[in-house]
Amino acid sequence: MKEKLEQLKNEIKEALENVKSSEVLKEMEIKYFGRKGKLTTLLKGIASLNAEQKKEIGQLANEAKGELMAKLNESKAVISPEEKSKAYTDVTLPGQAIEQGHQHPVTLIENELEDIFTSLGFMILDGPELESEYFNFEALNIPRHHPARDMQDTFYVEEPGGERRRKEAKDPSTSLGAGGEYDLVMRTHTSPMQVRAMLKYGAPLRCVVPGRVFRNEATDAVHDTTFNQLEGLMIGEGISVVNLIAVMKEMLKGIFKKPVEIRVRPGYFPFTEPSLEVDVRCTQCDGSGCPACKQSGWLEMVGSGQVHPNVLRAGQIDPDKNSGFAFGLGTTRLAMMKYGISDIRLFNSGDLRFLEQF
Ligand code: PHE
Repeated sequence: MKEKLEQLKNEIKEALENVKSSEVLKEMEIKYFGRKGKLTTLLKGIASLNAEQKKEIGQLANEAKGELMAKLNESKAVISPEEKSKAYTDVTLPGQAIEQGHQHPVTLIENELEDIFTSLGFMILDGPELESEYFNFEALNIPRHHPARDMQDTFYVEEPGGERRRKEAKDPSTSLGAGGEYDLVMRTHTSPMQVRAMLKYGAPLRCVVPGRVFRNEATDAVHDTTFNQLEGLMIGEGISVVNLIAVMKEMLKGIFKKPVEIRVRPGYFPFTEPSLEVDVRCTQCDGSGCPACKQSGWLEMVGSGQVHPNVLRAGQIDPDKNSGFAFGLGTTRLAMMKYGISDIRLFNSGDLRFLEQF
Protein backbone atom coordinates (compact mmCIF):
# COMPACT_ATOMS: atom_id res chain seq x y z
CA MET A 1 0.00 0.00 0.00
CA LYS A 2 2.73 2.36 0.98
CA GLU A 3 4.64 1.58 -2.19
CA LYS A 4 1.58 1.93 -4.33
CA LEU A 5 0.97 5.32 -2.84
CA GLU A 6 4.55 6.39 -3.45
CA GLN A 7 4.38 5.17 -7.02
CA LEU A 8 1.16 6.97 -7.77
CA LYS A 9 2.46 10.15 -6.20
CA ASN A 10 5.47 10.11 -8.51
CA GLU A 11 3.33 9.35 -11.53
CA ILE A 12 1.05 12.29 -10.80
CA LYS A 13 3.92 14.65 -10.10
CA GLU A 14 5.56 13.82 -13.37
CA ALA A 15 2.37 14.16 -15.31
CA LEU A 16 1.67 17.56 -13.75
CA GLU A 17 5.09 18.81 -14.72
CA ASN A 18 4.59 17.97 -18.38
CA VAL A 19 1.08 19.28 -18.80
CA LYS A 20 0.87 22.20 -21.26
CA SER A 21 -2.81 23.06 -21.78
CA SER A 22 -5.76 23.57 -19.52
CA GLU A 23 -7.66 20.89 -21.39
CA VAL A 24 -5.11 18.20 -20.58
CA LEU A 25 -4.98 19.46 -17.03
CA LYS A 26 -8.70 18.99 -16.68
CA GLU A 27 -8.46 15.45 -17.99
CA MET A 28 -5.75 14.72 -15.45
CA GLU A 29 -7.79 16.13 -12.61
CA ILE A 30 -10.56 13.69 -13.47
CA LYS A 31 -8.18 10.79 -14.03
CA TYR A 32 -6.48 11.07 -10.61
CA PHE A 33 -8.57 13.25 -8.32
CA GLY A 34 -12.07 12.61 -9.65
CA ARG A 35 -14.69 10.53 -7.87
CA LYS A 36 -13.47 7.38 -9.59
CA GLY A 37 -9.91 8.67 -9.98
CA LYS A 38 -6.83 6.61 -9.21
CA LEU A 39 -5.86 8.52 -6.09
CA THR A 40 -9.40 8.61 -4.74
CA THR A 41 -9.76 4.84 -5.19
CA LEU A 42 -6.45 4.23 -3.45
CA LEU A 43 -7.43 6.42 -0.51
CA LYS A 44 -10.72 4.58 -0.19
CA GLY A 45 -8.75 1.35 0.28
CA ILE A 46 -7.30 2.70 3.56
CA ALA A 47 -10.60 2.03 5.31
CA SER A 48 -10.03 -1.73 5.09
CA LEU A 49 -6.59 -1.63 6.79
CA ASN A 50 -6.03 -2.46 10.46
CA ALA A 51 -5.85 0.34 12.99
CA GLU A 52 -2.06 0.64 13.11
CA GLN A 53 -1.60 0.72 9.33
CA LYS A 54 -4.53 3.03 8.99
CA LYS A 55 -2.80 5.56 11.19
CA GLU A 56 0.51 5.40 9.39
CA ILE A 57 -0.65 5.19 5.83
CA GLY A 58 -3.56 7.54 6.40
CA GLN A 59 -1.18 10.26 7.44
CA LEU A 60 1.13 9.65 4.48
CA ALA A 61 -1.80 9.60 2.12
CA ASN A 62 -3.18 12.87 3.42
CA GLU A 63 0.20 14.53 3.07
CA ALA A 64 0.57 13.20 -0.48
CA LYS A 65 -2.90 14.36 -1.44
CA GLY A 66 -2.26 17.85 -0.05
CA GLU A 67 1.02 18.12 -1.87
CA LEU A 68 -0.46 16.95 -5.18
CA MET A 69 -3.48 19.26 -4.95
CA ALA A 70 -1.19 22.21 -4.34
CA LYS A 71 0.82 21.26 -7.41
CA LEU A 72 -2.34 20.93 -9.48
CA ASN A 73 -3.50 24.40 -8.50
CA GLU A 74 -0.08 25.79 -9.24
CA SER A 75 -0.17 24.35 -12.77
CA LYS A 76 -3.64 25.80 -13.29
CA ALA A 77 -2.46 29.24 -12.22
CA VAL A 78 0.43 29.12 -14.70
CA ILE A 79 -1.39 27.71 -17.68
CA SER A 80 -4.56 29.78 -17.97
CA PRO A 81 -2.96 33.27 -18.15
CA GLU A 82 -0.46 31.94 -20.67
CA GLU A 83 -3.27 30.73 -22.85
CA LYS A 84 -5.14 33.99 -22.52
CA SER A 85 -2.19 36.06 -23.67
CA LYS A 86 -1.97 33.90 -26.77
CA ALA A 87 -5.52 34.85 -27.78
CA TYR A 88 -4.48 38.40 -28.76
CA THR A 89 -6.42 40.87 -30.89
CA ASP A 90 -5.10 41.59 -34.36
CA VAL A 91 -5.71 45.33 -34.67
CA THR A 92 -4.72 45.27 -38.33
CA LEU A 93 -7.76 43.18 -39.32
CA PRO A 94 -10.50 45.14 -41.12
CA GLY A 95 -13.30 46.16 -38.73
CA GLN A 96 -16.88 44.97 -38.94
CA ALA A 97 -18.69 47.06 -41.53
CA ILE A 98 -21.46 49.24 -40.10
CA GLU A 99 -24.43 49.12 -42.41
CA GLN A 100 -25.16 52.54 -43.84
CA GLY A 101 -28.57 53.92 -44.64
CA HIS A 102 -29.27 55.80 -47.85
CA GLN A 103 -31.78 58.16 -49.37
CA HIS A 104 -35.33 57.26 -50.34
CA PRO A 105 -36.01 57.24 -54.10
CA VAL A 106 -38.32 60.25 -53.76
CA THR A 107 -35.63 62.15 -51.85
CA LEU A 108 -33.18 61.40 -54.67
CA ILE A 109 -35.61 62.93 -57.17
CA GLU A 110 -36.29 65.92 -54.90
CA ASN A 111 -32.57 66.61 -54.52
CA GLU A 112 -32.09 66.54 -58.28
CA LEU A 113 -34.98 68.95 -58.76
CA GLU A 114 -33.67 71.26 -56.06
CA ASP A 115 -30.34 71.46 -57.89
CA ILE A 116 -32.05 72.26 -61.18
CA PHE A 117 -34.22 74.99 -59.65
CA THR A 118 -31.44 76.48 -57.55
CA SER A 119 -29.48 76.91 -60.78
CA LEU A 120 -32.48 78.79 -62.22
CA GLY A 121 -32.55 81.18 -59.26
CA PHE A 122 -35.48 79.63 -57.35
CA MET A 123 -35.63 79.48 -53.55
CA ILE A 124 -36.36 76.11 -51.91
CA LEU A 125 -39.14 76.40 -49.33
CA ASP A 126 -40.78 74.04 -46.86
CA GLY A 127 -44.39 74.21 -45.71
CA PRO A 128 -46.62 72.67 -43.05
CA GLU A 129 -48.24 69.29 -43.75
CA LEU A 130 -51.05 70.08 -41.31
CA GLU A 131 -52.48 73.12 -43.02
CA SER A 132 -55.27 75.60 -42.57
CA GLU A 133 -58.22 74.99 -44.82
CA TYR A 134 -57.78 78.65 -45.67
CA PHE A 135 -54.42 78.22 -47.45
CA ASN A 136 -55.26 74.78 -48.81
CA PHE A 137 -58.53 75.89 -50.44
CA GLU A 138 -59.98 79.31 -49.68
CA ALA A 139 -56.91 81.42 -50.61
CA LEU A 140 -56.58 79.34 -53.78
CA ASN A 141 -59.93 80.54 -55.02
CA ILE A 142 -61.82 77.44 -53.81
CA PRO A 143 -64.48 78.74 -51.39
CA ARG A 144 -66.18 76.49 -48.88
CA HIS A 145 -69.21 74.72 -50.34
CA HIS A 146 -67.80 75.16 -53.87
CA PRO A 147 -67.90 71.93 -55.90
CA ALA A 148 -64.22 72.44 -56.87
CA ARG A 149 -63.34 71.12 -53.41
CA ASP A 150 -64.52 67.71 -54.57
CA MET A 151 -61.49 67.48 -56.88
CA GLN A 152 -59.38 66.51 -53.85
CA ASP A 153 -60.64 64.13 -51.14
CA THR A 154 -59.48 65.67 -47.94
CA PHE A 155 -58.54 64.60 -44.42
CA TYR A 156 -60.09 67.15 -42.10
CA VAL A 157 -58.29 67.09 -38.77
CA GLU A 158 -59.59 67.72 -35.33
CA GLU A 159 -57.01 68.51 -32.68
CA PRO A 160 -57.97 66.50 -29.62
CA GLY A 161 -59.01 68.95 -26.95
CA GLY A 162 -57.18 71.76 -28.73
CA GLU A 163 -58.06 74.81 -30.75
CA ARG A 164 -59.50 73.31 -33.88
CA ARG A 165 -59.95 76.32 -36.05
CA ARG A 166 -57.59 78.98 -37.34
CA LYS A 167 -58.18 82.54 -38.37
CA GLU A 168 -56.13 83.29 -41.46
CA ALA A 169 -58.23 85.36 -43.88
CA LYS A 170 -57.12 88.95 -44.30
CA ASP A 171 -59.47 89.60 -47.20
CA PRO A 172 -63.14 90.40 -46.33
CA SER A 173 -64.28 89.05 -49.70
CA THR A 174 -63.50 85.42 -48.75
CA SER A 175 -66.43 83.08 -48.32
CA LEU A 176 -66.24 83.44 -44.54
CA GLY A 177 -65.15 87.09 -44.50
CA ALA A 178 -61.97 88.48 -42.95
CA GLY A 179 -61.12 86.71 -39.69
CA GLY A 180 -63.31 83.74 -40.61
CA GLU A 181 -62.48 80.52 -38.78
CA TYR A 182 -61.07 77.67 -40.83
CA ASP A 183 -60.68 73.97 -40.18
CA LEU A 184 -57.34 72.17 -40.23
CA VAL A 185 -56.63 69.73 -43.04
CA MET A 186 -53.76 67.50 -44.05
CA ARG A 187 -52.67 69.47 -47.13
CA THR A 188 -54.01 67.91 -50.31
CA HIS A 189 -51.33 69.55 -52.46
CA THR A 190 -48.26 71.76 -52.05
CA SER A 191 -50.17 74.73 -53.53
CA PRO A 192 -51.05 76.29 -50.12
CA MET A 193 -47.42 77.41 -50.06
CA GLN A 194 -48.12 79.73 -53.01
CA VAL A 195 -49.99 82.23 -50.86
CA ARG A 196 -47.79 81.67 -47.81
CA ALA A 197 -44.71 82.49 -49.92
CA MET A 198 -46.37 85.58 -51.44
CA LEU A 199 -47.30 86.89 -47.99
CA LYS A 200 -43.80 86.31 -46.67
CA TYR A 201 -41.64 87.46 -49.61
CA GLY A 202 -43.87 89.58 -51.91
CA ALA A 203 -43.03 90.15 -55.58
CA PRO A 204 -40.85 89.42 -57.46
CA LEU A 205 -40.70 85.82 -56.32
CA ARG A 206 -39.23 82.55 -57.51
CA CYS A 207 -39.60 79.45 -55.34
CA VAL A 208 -40.16 75.70 -55.37
CA VAL A 209 -41.66 73.68 -52.53
CA PRO A 210 -41.07 69.94 -52.38
CA GLY A 211 -43.23 68.06 -49.89
CA ARG A 212 -45.60 65.37 -48.79
CA VAL A 213 -49.32 65.65 -49.48
CA PHE A 214 -52.35 63.63 -48.37
CA ARG A 215 -55.66 62.56 -49.89
CA ASN A 216 -58.46 60.51 -48.49
CA GLU A 217 -58.33 57.94 -51.27
CA ALA A 218 -58.90 54.25 -51.71
CA THR A 219 -55.43 52.91 -52.45
CA ASP A 220 -54.41 50.89 -55.49
CA ALA A 221 -51.28 50.52 -57.64
CA VAL A 222 -51.39 54.17 -58.71
CA HIS A 223 -53.21 55.87 -55.80
CA ASP A 224 -51.99 56.31 -52.26
CA THR A 225 -53.14 58.44 -49.34
CA THR A 226 -49.66 59.89 -49.02
CA PHE A 227 -47.44 61.01 -51.88
CA ASN A 228 -45.05 63.78 -52.86
CA GLN A 229 -45.27 66.86 -55.05
CA LEU A 230 -43.09 69.77 -55.97
CA GLU A 231 -44.76 73.17 -56.23
CA GLY A 232 -43.25 75.94 -58.32
CA LEU A 233 -44.10 79.64 -58.35
CA MET A 234 -42.71 82.58 -60.26
CA ILE A 235 -44.16 86.07 -59.87
CA GLY A 236 -42.99 89.33 -61.39
CA GLU A 237 -43.86 92.01 -63.93
CA GLY A 238 -44.80 90.48 -67.26
CA ILE A 239 -44.26 86.84 -66.29
CA SER A 240 -46.34 84.71 -68.64
CA VAL A 241 -47.01 81.24 -70.03
CA VAL A 242 -43.93 81.70 -72.25
CA ASN A 243 -41.76 81.69 -69.11
CA LEU A 244 -43.69 78.72 -67.75
CA ILE A 245 -43.02 76.61 -70.82
CA ALA A 246 -39.35 77.56 -70.89
CA VAL A 247 -38.94 76.57 -67.23
CA MET A 248 -40.84 73.30 -67.75
CA LYS A 249 -38.57 72.38 -70.69
CA GLU A 250 -35.47 73.18 -68.68
CA MET A 251 -36.77 71.15 -65.72
CA LEU A 252 -37.65 68.07 -67.79
CA LYS A 253 -34.35 68.22 -69.67
CA GLY A 254 -32.57 68.25 -66.31
CA ILE A 255 -34.54 65.27 -65.01
CA PHE A 256 -34.28 63.05 -68.08
CA LYS A 257 -30.76 64.27 -68.96
CA LYS A 258 -31.78 64.94 -72.57
CA PRO A 259 -34.20 67.28 -74.37
CA VAL A 260 -37.68 65.74 -74.17
CA GLU A 261 -40.70 66.38 -76.33
CA ILE A 262 -43.54 68.04 -74.42
CA ARG A 263 -47.17 68.74 -75.14
CA VAL A 264 -49.24 71.51 -73.57
CA ARG A 265 -53.01 71.06 -73.23
CA PRO A 266 -55.71 73.15 -71.63
CA GLY A 267 -56.55 72.07 -68.08
CA TYR A 268 -58.61 73.26 -65.17
CA PHE A 269 -57.58 74.41 -61.73
CA PRO A 270 -59.51 77.04 -59.76
CA PHE A 271 -56.27 78.82 -58.82
CA THR A 272 -54.81 79.24 -62.31
CA GLU A 273 -56.27 80.98 -65.36
CA PRO A 274 -55.59 79.79 -67.96
CA SER A 275 -54.66 76.34 -66.69
CA LEU A 276 -52.32 74.06 -68.58
CA GLU A 277 -51.39 70.40 -68.42
CA VAL A 278 -47.85 69.59 -69.50
CA ASP A 279 -47.31 66.07 -70.85
CA VAL A 280 -44.05 64.37 -71.75
CA ARG A 281 -43.44 61.90 -74.59
CA CYS A 282 -43.56 58.54 -72.86
CA THR A 283 -40.07 57.62 -71.69
CA GLN A 284 -40.85 53.90 -71.72
CA CYS A 285 -42.09 53.48 -75.29
CA ASP A 286 -40.97 56.75 -76.97
CA GLY A 287 -44.57 57.44 -77.90
CA SER A 288 -45.60 54.21 -79.62
CA GLY A 289 -47.97 53.29 -76.77
CA CYS A 290 -47.44 51.08 -73.70
CA PRO A 291 -49.14 50.34 -70.36
CA ALA A 292 -47.17 53.12 -68.60
CA CYS A 293 -48.76 55.79 -70.83
CA LYS A 294 -52.07 53.93 -71.18
CA GLN A 295 -51.31 53.54 -74.92
CA SER A 296 -51.49 57.32 -75.44
CA GLY A 297 -47.77 57.91 -75.98
CA TRP A 298 -47.83 60.76 -73.43
CA LEU A 299 -47.31 60.95 -69.69
CA GLU A 300 -49.14 63.54 -67.61
CA MET A 301 -46.48 65.24 -65.54
CA VAL A 302 -47.40 68.73 -64.49
CA GLY A 303 -50.51 70.75 -63.65
CA SER A 304 -49.85 74.44 -64.17
CA GLY A 305 -51.06 77.83 -65.32
CA GLN A 306 -51.07 81.58 -64.83
CA VAL A 307 -51.75 82.43 -61.20
CA HIS A 308 -55.36 83.56 -60.79
CA PRO A 309 -55.76 87.25 -59.80
CA ASN A 310 -57.74 86.22 -56.69
CA VAL A 311 -54.78 84.14 -55.53
CA LEU A 312 -52.40 87.07 -56.05
CA ARG A 313 -54.78 89.25 -54.02
CA ALA A 314 -54.86 86.70 -51.20
CA GLY A 315 -51.05 86.93 -51.26
CA GLN A 316 -51.33 90.75 -51.11
CA ILE A 317 -49.79 91.15 -54.54
CA ASP A 318 -51.35 93.61 -56.99
CA PRO A 319 -52.62 91.65 -60.04
CA ASP A 320 -52.57 94.80 -62.14
CA LYS A 321 -48.85 95.15 -61.64
CA ASN A 322 -47.60 91.58 -61.29
CA SER A 323 -48.39 88.26 -62.89
CA GLY A 324 -46.88 84.82 -62.70
CA PHE A 325 -47.15 81.12 -63.19
CA ALA A 326 -47.45 78.16 -60.85
CA PHE A 327 -47.03 74.46 -61.40
CA GLY A 328 -47.35 71.23 -59.44
CA LEU A 329 -45.19 68.24 -60.31
CA GLY A 330 -45.90 64.77 -58.91
CA THR A 331 -42.48 63.69 -57.64
CA THR A 332 -43.70 60.27 -56.52
CA ARG A 333 -45.04 59.67 -60.00
CA LEU A 334 -41.78 60.90 -61.49
CA ALA A 335 -39.84 58.44 -59.31
CA MET A 336 -42.15 55.65 -60.53
CA MET A 337 -41.39 56.57 -64.13
CA LYS A 338 -37.69 57.08 -63.69
CA TYR A 339 -37.09 53.84 -61.77
CA GLY A 340 -39.83 51.76 -63.44
CA ILE A 341 -41.81 51.17 -60.21
CA SER A 342 -45.24 49.72 -60.90
CA ASP A 343 -46.88 50.05 -57.46
CA ILE A 344 -47.03 53.41 -55.64
CA ARG A 345 -47.71 51.67 -52.31
CA LEU A 346 -44.11 50.44 -52.18
CA PHE A 347 -42.83 53.96 -51.43
CA ASN A 348 -44.24 54.16 -47.91
CA SER A 349 -44.21 50.42 -47.19
CA GLY A 350 -40.90 50.56 -45.32
CA ASP A 351 -40.02 47.31 -47.08
CA LEU A 352 -36.22 47.07 -47.13
CA ARG A 353 -36.26 44.65 -50.05
CA PHE A 354 -37.67 47.58 -52.06
CA LEU A 355 -35.65 50.41 -50.52
CA GLU A 356 -32.28 48.71 -50.70
CA GLN A 357 -32.41 48.77 -54.48
CA PHE A 358 -31.72 52.52 -54.63
N1 PHE B 1 -52.12 71.58 -56.97
C1 PHE B 1 -52.49 70.96 -58.20
C2 PHE B 1 -52.77 69.47 -57.93
O1 PHE B 1 -52.35 68.95 -56.92
C3 PHE B 1 -51.42 71.10 -59.25
C4 PHE B 1 -51.19 72.54 -59.66
C5 PHE B 1 -50.26 73.32 -59.02
C6 PHE B 1 -51.92 73.09 -60.71
C7 PHE B 1 -50.04 74.61 -59.41
C8 PHE B 1 -51.70 74.39 -61.10
C9 PHE B 1 -50.77 75.15 -60.46
O2 PHE B 1 -53.44 68.80 -58.69
